[in-house]
Formats: sequence, C-alpha cells, structure tokens
Amino acid sequence: MNAQNVRPVTSCRVCGGSDWQDVVALGEVPLANAFLEPAASYEDEASYPLGVISCRSCRLMSVTHVVDPEVMYRTYSYVTSDSETITRHMEFVATTCRERARLAAGDLVVELGSNTGQQLAVFARDGSRVLGVDPARNLAAVAHERGIPTLPEFFTDATARAVRRSHGPARLILGRHVFAHIDDLAGVLAGVRALLAPDGVFVVEVPYGVDLLEKYAFDTIYHEHLSYFLLRTLDTLFTRHGLSLFDVERLPVHGGSLLVLVGRPEAGRAVTDEVGALMAAEEQAGLGSDAAYREFARGVRNVCEELPALVHRLRAEGKRIAGYGASAKGTTILNVCGLGSDEVAYCTDTTSLKQGKVLPGTHIPVRSPDHARSDPPDVYLMLAWNYADEILRKEADFLRAGGRFILPFPKPAVVSADSLR
Ligand code: TMP
Ligand code: ZN
Repeated sequence: MNAQNVRPVTSCRVCGGSDWQDVVALGEVPLANAFLEPAASYEDEASYPLGVISCRSCRLMSVTHVVDPEVMYRTYSYVTSDSETITRHMEFVATTCRERARLAAGDLVVELGSNTGQQLAVFARDGSRVLGVDPARNLAAVAHERGIPTLPEFFTDATARAVRRSHGPARLILGRHVFAHIDDLAGVLAGVRALLAPDGVFVVEVPYGVDLLEKYAFDTIYHEHLSYFLLRTLDTLFTRHGLSLFDVERLPVHGGSLLVLVGRPEAGRAVTDEVGALMAAEEQAGLGSDAAYREFARGVRNVCEELPALVHRLRAEGKRIAGYGASAKGTTILNVCGLGSDEVAYCTDTTSLKQGKVLPGTHIPVRSPDHARSDPPDVYLMLAWNYADEILRKEADFLRAGGRFILPFPKPAVVSADSLR
C-alpha cells in the first residue's frame, strides 16, 4: 500500500455523520483501471484496502478508503463503451434531457466526467452548444479530436465559475456515472449551483445501491466508486446543498442505475410521484436498518466461495477459461476470489487501450476479440455482465459450438446454448 495516496473515510460525505456499520471488507486490491505493461516482475504495483461501510444516519454506502483522484484519473484507461446498449442509452438520456430541460438550439450543455465526449456528441448533433469537463488529459484530447471541446480539469466551484464567465449559464448539466467517483460533493454541487441557469436541470446517473444489494454484485465495488447511493441518500445530499431532486427513473443500464433530475428549489418544480414511491420502497425493504447490509455481506461471501470452487472444478475437468471483458469490475472479482492466470488464460476486451496490457493484481493478459476468435476458450467468465444480453447475442456462434459462460451474480451459474433456449 502506498500510504501517501490514500486515507480512511471518517465522516460521511453526504450527511457528515460518523456512525458507520461495517458491511464488507475485500482485502487489499489494486486500482481497477491500473492496467500494466507485461513485465517480468510487478514488485512496485500498489494496492489499497477495499471495503464498504454504511452510514447509519443517511444510509450512504461508502468505500472504506479514498485514493487520491490525481492518481486515479489524470491518465485514465476507461473509455466509454460504444456498445449497442450504451449507444441506445445515450440517445435515451439525450431525449429525456431535451424534454425535461426544454433544451432549445444553442443552449449550453455541460457534462462532468465527459470521457471521450460520446454523450455530448449526441447533444451537439442536435444543435446544443456543448462543453465537457474531465480530468483525464488523454481522454480530453480524444474528445477534442472528435470536435467536442473539453476542459482537462476536475469540476470544482472554481472551474464552474470560469465556465460561466466564458460560456454563460448552463441549461443542462449532466453527470453520468461520475457522481459516485466524487469525494468533495460539496465543492461539485457549489459548482453546479454557480453554473446552472435559474430554470436549468442537473441530470445525474448513478449505479443504484439497491441493485448492488439485490444482486450481491460486489464487483462494482472498487476504489473509484466512493459512494453507492439510495434515492433517499441522494435526496438528503441535494437538499443539504441548496438543490432539489424532483424526478427519478430506475434503469437497467450498468447493472441497474438511477437517473435523477435536480433543479433549483426557487424554480418551484413539483416533485413527481415516482420519487415518493421509490423512497417508500427503500424504507419497506428495510434499507434503513443494519440487517439488509448483513444479508448483502452473506450473499457476497457466498459468491466468493462458489465462484472459485466452480472455476477450479472446470479447470480440473480440463476446461480452458477466459474472461469476457477486462472490466474494472473484473479487477475486483478476480483479485477478491483469488483467480489469476492459472485459472483464466486471458481476458478479451474491445478497448484498444487495454489490449496487450495485463490486468491489475492478477496480471492476466488482455487480448483483442480477434485473438479470442482464433483461440477461443471452452468457457468464458462473464466480467462485463452488465452487457450480458448483448454479449450472449453476439457470441451465438461460440455458444452454438458448445461454448459456455459463467455468470457470477447473484449466484454463480453456467449457461450454454441449451440453457438459454
Ligand atoms: P464497463 O462495464 O465499465 O463499461 O466495462 C465493460 C468492459 O467490457 C469494457 O472494457 C469493454 C468491454 N466489452 C467487451 O470487451 N466486449 C463487449 O461486447 C462489451 C459490451 C464490452
Ligand atoms: Zn451519512
């Protein structure tokens, strides 16, 4: 562990509380996107404690340790997927935002954590003025190349004020799967208040804590994901920072997400019935009390026992196994379950930035889909299970030829062409 770059969480980043329930401890794990060049030895590789705690006051689930964002994000290897699932989802987000924020041509749309500008490109195509803000210098450069202006900075109050001075107020501010990565929520929300037009809308998409709990999908726990939100927790957060959450939609994307719409309280928007209904469902499911989180920990332990046992059984039968998707989630699941290159020959991934490198911690090589087609395994371990439908469709030939997939959650299971019929 590199102690200079990490600190334990003490007070809750949403409510300031400090009464934490210990939920799960997953040991020391390297950063999920810290892919390495193949080497003879990996002595310098850093790993950090990984675990989750739950705030008994607002029920934020937080990682136990925060790693310096300068270390995680200045050069970043996660590139927004151009899969069918995500492309379709981005059109949906743009349509929802256009309607709800009543976007007119030329209105300013700012996205934080804009990655390579794929989502903003949809808004630009439809006539919005767009600006991305993303600290990853390597990705901001890619976004520029596709014509999406991007500030290579963290979104802070100061950045937001500078944007307002140079571009005017934003009709729409968007944060897709970035909010869970932010430690200084107060600073970011001060920036949102500074930049948002009086009747503008802030649209946030986060992985939904309830999906994490229900699927025992502990692989979405990695150091970049500081927070796992319930709707009630998000509502507390925005209220504390002078904003008002007025609508919500539960979506299947990324293993289960919430899209929440937030505005200024002065805009006087009515809160939709969906908000009250989902918060009531959280209450009814007992998510305000410790028992729900103990049940999650039980399910996680179960996956951590059954998955390696299943893999070892298949290996003992002489089956060759490869990972499907060198996802960040894969780093967690492989490291926590103790699966390395003896068990998993390679991981196939479409991201060229990852190909030729090795996975953090396990040092399993990343191979291109072409390589995988020329040297297919007997069984794929599905590490990008959030795209399972799309991948199983795409790999119909592999399945027809007798190939199988292991799906890890909520309980490890093997699927084949027969079982999918
Ligand atoms: P994500 O869940 O964070 O988007 O990461 C999924 C990873 O899986 C990403 O590295 C891209 C990869 N992937 C493939 O290799 N093939 C596919 O068909 C899909 C959908 C994703
Ligand atoms: Zn709290």
